[in-house]
Parts: sequence; C-alpha cells; structure tokens
Amino acid sequence: MSAFPSLLRRAWPLAAIAAIIAALAATFSWAAGWIGGSRLTAQRVTDAIEAGNGRIHPGFRRAHAKGVCVTGHFASNGAGAALTRAGMLAAGASTPVLGRLSIAGGDPHAPDATTRVRSMALLLADADGQQWRMAMNSFPFFAVATPEGFHDQAVASRPDPATGKPDPAKMAELLRRHPEIKRFQQWAKTAPWPDSWGNTGFNGVNAFRFTDAAGQVHFVRWSMRPRLAFAAMDKATRAGAEADYLAHDLQARLANGPLRWDLVLHVAAPGDPINDPSRAWPEDRRQIVAGTLVLDAAQDQAEGACRDVNYDPTVLPDGIRPSDDPVLAARASVYAQSYNRREREIARGQAPTTAHRESAR
Ligand code: HEM
Repeated sequence: MSAFPSLLRRAWPLAAIAAIIAALAATFSWAAGWIGGSRLTAQRVTDAIEAGNGRIHPGFRRAHAKGVCVTGHFASNGAGAALTRAGMLAAGASTPVLGRLSIAGGDPHAPDATTRVRSMALLLADADGQQWRMAMNSFPFFAVATPEGFHDQAVASRPDPATGKPDPAKMAELLRRHPEIKRFQQWAKTAPWPDSWGNTGFNGVNAFRFTDAAGQVHFVRWSMRPRLAFAAMDKATRAGAEADYLAHDLQARLANGPLRWDLVLHVAAPGDPINDPSRAWPEDRRQIVAGTLVLDAAQDQAEGACRDVNYDPTVLPDGIRPSDDPVLAARASVYAQSYNRREREIARGQAPTTAHRESAR
C-alpha cells in the first residue's frame, strides 16, 4: 500500500479535488479536443452516453457506474521482462494496486443481473512514481472498431420514447455503417454469464506497444485470467438473484482469503490487427504469464479511494505506450470528460451515495 497512502485515505479536501481536475485538464492531452481527425469530440461522446443513460446520476461514472473499490498487489514473476523494461514486470517486483470491479452501464443502482458485461479497472503505482492504469471487460473483443462506431451505437441504442426500445430502423442503419457489431451481438447471444467477479476473466482488448531492455518493440494485448474456475449463471438463477449479488459474493469470498488472477500478455504476430479492438487475435499467439494480481480487500465505492480515480488506459509506465488504436485515444479523452463532470458534481456537494445499498431499496 505504501506507494499511494494518500490515495487510499479517503475524504480528500474538496480544494484538492478541484486542483486535480485542473491538473488533469492539462495532463490529458485529448481532454477537450477532437477525437483523432474526425468531427467527434469527447464532449459529444459523453453527451451521447449520458443521453443513453436516460438521466444523470451526479457524482457517478457515466459508464460502469455501479462497482466497488478493491485493493491488493501485483506480484511479477519476471517473464514479462522479455517484452518490456517496465519495472513492474521485473522479476520479484511487487506493486500496490487500487482497483475497481464494476458492471457495464450508466445506472449505479441497476440490479447486477441486468447487464452481462463485468469489468475490472486497476491502478498499479510503484515507489518510483510510475503508474499503470488499465480498464478491462469480460468480453473477448470490443463491439466497435472506431470511436465513431461507439458514438453511433450510443445514439442508435437510445430508447425511443414512444416504445421504450431502440428504433429498429436506426439499429439497422447502425449495423450497415458498423457491421463489426454483428460479431459482438453473436458473442453476446451465446456467451455464458459468470456468477462472480472472482471467476471472471477480463480482457484489455486494445493493443499496446511494449519496449524491451534492448529497445525492441512488441505489440501486446493483456488479460487477467482468474484462478477460480468459471461458473455460469443461467437465466432462471439470474431472474431470482438479489440486486447486489456480485458485491455480496465478493465480500463472502474475500472473507475466506484473497482472490487471484494471472496477468497474461498476448503477443501480436505480423499482420495481426493492432489498431482494431473489435477483431480478436488468433488463439495460438504467443502468451506469457507475467505475474499474479492478488486482491484482498473491498471497499464501498462511495467511500473507497477508487471513487476519485480516472482509470485512463493511456497512463502507463516507462516501457509501455499506447498503440495507434483510435479507440484508445478516444477513451483517454472521454474518460477525462466523464471524470471532470463527476468530480465537479462532487465538489458541488453531490457526492455519490452507496450504490449497492440504494439498489436494494
Ligand atoms: C470509444 C470507446 C470507449 C468509450 C467512449 C468509453 C467510455 C467510458 C466512460 C465515459 C467511462 C467512465 C470513466 C470515468 O468516469 O472514470 C468508462 C469506464 C470504463 N470503461 Fe470504457 N469506454 C470505451 C471503451 C472501453 C473498452 C474498449 C474497454 C475495455 C475493454 C472499456 C472498459 C471500461 C471500464 C472497465 C470502465 C470502468 C473504469 C472504472 O472502474 O473507473 N471501455 N468508459
């Protein structure tokens, strides 16, 4: 825990939060600008997400709004040093972790069984001031290939006020413009739902540029593979599940000891799609297990230190850089928008309330 004790202590003075917002606006170079060369801005994408949510939940993340904070450490076994000079993947390195487990969607009070996608975000911070932030999902590839696809999907999926459902004509046009979404729909139709965060695998889906000690570059995607065996939750069980079963399951499991995931680095072969997260790489690509994530405690997100973290996946240690994937660059700018909006609301006194307690009301 020692590398970021102040992060783990909550109740930051509001002035400190305001200062961080100002600093972030300067730090995240994409914060206010256009996304790539397109006409899309981070503001427009965030507005589209908010509109899709139906209403603003002040102080909460605009996406993945329901979740819990977790803490632990990452223990490196040194195998990742074949790909990167990052100290956190050196042999024997142990790095404190402040993380967050969540479900997809913008409603912080949604029952867990209403959304299929489960998520893990991590902030690894070492004693040298290096940070590695990541945000992963339980799907094996992203629904869309571009930020425009994400924006168009958010707009088209918005429920029609007349029917309460997305307009079929708009959805058909979406699939015509972004046909890769069909692949994702196919996955979503058939993939089983895990019954716990603890037995779920999480995938980074975007590629990153790793540089090893000799200066050689490798393109890598990573995933967290659970040590617990997968257990599916069928439709009938989900229908009867309590609203916050994931948080309660997590508490029960942590009471019996830490949860573990192996960090698996997937290395691209020449010709693999580096800049398109909607296309999975073949299963037989070289994989390196670089160490183990150990989570041993959870905190409510309304009180835990993860509340005030932006898990921007482009904040990386020396030896790891973003690829040219436009989705990655868009994520940096949109997360900053969402973060700034929610921290402004908190600074105005609209702090989030305990999500899982509220949903049980
Ligand atoms: C253009 C593409 C994307 C957009 C616009 C987007 C948008 C967002 C936004 C607005 C947030 C809330 C940020 C905050 O308030 O801190 C968020 C959170 C998150 N996103 Fe994305 N996202 C995108 C792609 C992805 C992808 C590809 C993944 C992973 C495979 C992902 C995983 C997550 C996770 C895990 C969180 C929750 C992080 C946390 O716990 O704070 N997102 N996303």
